[in-house]
Amino acid sequence: MDEEFWQIRWRENRIGFHEGRPHEQLVDHVESLGLSEGDTVFVPLCGKSLDLDWLLSRNLRVVGAEFNRQAVEEVFARQSLVPEIRDAGSLIRFSADALDIFVGDVFALTAAMLGAVDAVYDRAALVALPPETRPGYASHLSGITGQAKQLLIGLDYDQAQMNGPPFSVPEEEIRRLYESGYGAELISRRPISGPLARRCSGTEEAWLLIPKPAS
Ligand SMILES: C[S@@+](CC[C@H](N)C(=O)[O-])C[C@H]1O[C@@H](n2cnc3c(N)ncnc32)[C@H](O)[C@@H]1O
Repeated sequence: MDEEFWQIRWRENRIGFHEGRPHEQLVDHVESLGLSEGDTVFVPLCGKSLDLDWLLSRNLRVVGAEFNRQAVEEVFARQSLVPEIRDAGSLIRFSADALDIFVGDVFALTAAMLGAVDAVYDRAALVALPPETRPGYASHLSGITGQAKQLLIGLDYDQAQMNGPPFSVPEEEIRRLYESGYGAELISRRPISGPLARRCSGTEEAWLLIPKPAS
C-alpha cells in the first residue's frame, strides 16, 4: 500500500471508507478520552473524514496527516477556512484556526512538527496498513505523540473473506502492537456495518489505549 495506491483510489473516487457522517464509535466513545476544550487530537491518515469537523465542533484542536492534498483542501473548504500553507520538511502544512493538516507521509512527521498531542483518534488508519507496516506505525505514532492515549477503531474478520485494506487486526495483534507502552481496554464490539458489511462479516471494535506509567 504505497502512496500511489492511495492516490489512485482518490483519483478514481474509490473511497468507500469515507462516511457521510461522524463515525458512530467516535461519537459514542469520545468521552472515554477525557478531553477538555482546547485539547489537541491527532488524526493520522485522516482522509477528508467528517470526524475532523465533529471534533472541531467540540472545541478541540485537530491535527491530521493525509497523503491526498485535494482531500485536505476539501476539509478546509467545508469548514469555510482559508488555510495558511507552509512547507514542513517533506510535508506541506495546512493551518487555519484550530485545524492543522499535514499533507504527505505520516512516517515523515516528527514530534517537533506535530507539537503537543493530548489524544490520538485512529479510524481506518491502522487497519489501512498491511501487516508488515503496522509495528512501525504503532511505534512511530507513540513516539511522535509522546505516547498520547488513543481511541482506536479496529476490525476483526476472517482475512480469507477479502483482501485488505481494510485489514483485519484482531485483539491479539492490537495487544502485541501496543502492549509495551499502553494498557488496551476493549470498550465496544459491534457487527461490521455499512458498505463493508457487503464484503465481509465480523466485528468493529473500539479500543482505549492508555499509556502505561514509565517504569
Ligand atoms: C482508509 S482511508 C481512511 C481515511 C479516514 N481515516 C476516514 O476514516 O475516512 C486511509 C487514508 O490514509 C491515507 N494514507 C495512507 N497511508 C498514508 C501515509 N503513510 N501517510 C499519510 N496518509 C496516508 C490514504 O490516502 C487514505 O486517505
